[in-house]
Amino acid sequence: MKEDTKIVVTGRDTKFYGGVVNPPVYHASTVLFDSMEELENRQQRTGLKMSYGLRGTPTTFCLEQAIAELEGGYRTVLCSSGLAAICMALMAFVKCGDNILIVDSVYGPTRKFCDTWLPRYGVSTTYYEPMIGADIADMIRPETSVVFVESPGSITFEVQDVPAIAAAGRAKGAKVLMDNTWASPLYFKPFTKGVDVSIQAATKFIVGHSDVLLGSVTTNKESWKAVKSCFSEYGQQGAPDDVYFAQRGLRTLSIRLKRSQETGLKLARWLGDRPEVEQVLHPALPGCPGHEFWKRDFLGASGLFAVVLKPYTRTALASMLDHMQLFGMGFSWGGYESLIVPYDLSGVRTVTHYEWSGGYRVLRIYAGLEDPEDLISDLEAGFERLNAAC
Ligand SMILES: Cc1ncc(COP(=O)(O)O)c(C=O)c1O
Repeated sequence: MKEDTKIVVTGRDTKFYGGVVNPPVYHASTVLFDSMEELENRQQRTGLKMSYGLRGTPTTFCLEQAIAELEGGYRTVLCSSGLAAICMALMAFVKCGDNILIVDSVYGPTRKFCDTWLPRYGVSTTYYEPMIGADIADMIRPETSVVFVESPGSITFEVQDVPAIAAAGRAKGAKVLMDNTWASPLYFKPFTKGVDVSIQAATKFIVGHSDVLLGSVTTNKESWKAVKSCFSEYGQQGAPDDVYFAQRGLRTLSIRLKRSQETGLKLARWLGDRPEVEQVLHPALPGCPGHEFWKRDFLGASGLFAVVLKPYTRTALASMLDHMQLFGMGFSWGGYESLIVPYDLSGVRTVTHYEWSGGYRVLRIYAGLEDPEDLISDLEAGFERLNAAC
């Protein structure tokens, strides 16, 4: 089955729900059993059969099945946000005395969790340079339990050599975890590249409408037990209404992503010709660190990228950003609306050096579903304001 068909049919069996197209929302905590025997054998219940709301409902089972299939993994669990999914996935594989290796270009709150909470459990974190590739082998010690990749990197978009890093990690017995949110389950297939556990902030592309937070963790067969038991024992689950919105959003992911990709590339190329822009950090364009790995390993590019601006004052930049007509200024991404956010990378990384790390030099751009020409006009007017304020 081709991917565009799979995304429509997977995790959906209308005969169970009286013919309705979308699996209905089950709100459940208590689930009743007809007999003692049924109660005793509740762990074996499958399909529509639930045992307790926290263990999942038909609503969550549908989305879990769909994400597992699209990511190419064994099984999936859901939880309340992308960040919760990352933290829980890490917790599943660490114990006191372990060291974990995390890419320096990781999503900021992942770093915060590793720096503030893991040390309380006796787990230390070492950050590695995003372009390290197979040389990561030299950093893997007997106590290294996890190698964490996020490709491309948050804000700076370095595309990692995931197969080389994963091979090195697995050769030395570490679990390889990946934040695969940027590509969504459609544009990067982590389990064919040696990854053990793939995490999605479903909040972004899967939900796709900027109104719901949700996370998923998908594993290969060997890693399933650890993740499932960690999620169960920490009481993690996706809320039924949120899961419903996510499974509905998922059905249109392919066309939304394609459009976001096309518009993102148009904007990135246009920005690359602007005198105000020093560098374009778009994984699908030359000039982005690791572009060659994007070409080799990815099936497409989402519409999230960044540009490095020449140095401007904060006031000049505010003149541009405070008056955008179409681009909203706000965190997260993956919805239908375009976004723009300035970043100052001072102090954000601990290993990687960027020439342009002081001041607001980076603009992260998310290409939504508006007409690209209108978005370009909005940026053009913004640059006029920027230049007028210099
Ligand atoms: C790459 C990446 N991973 C994870 C997350 C966390 O997702 P959530 O906002 O659902 O916690 C984000 C959020 O911006 C993200 O950009």
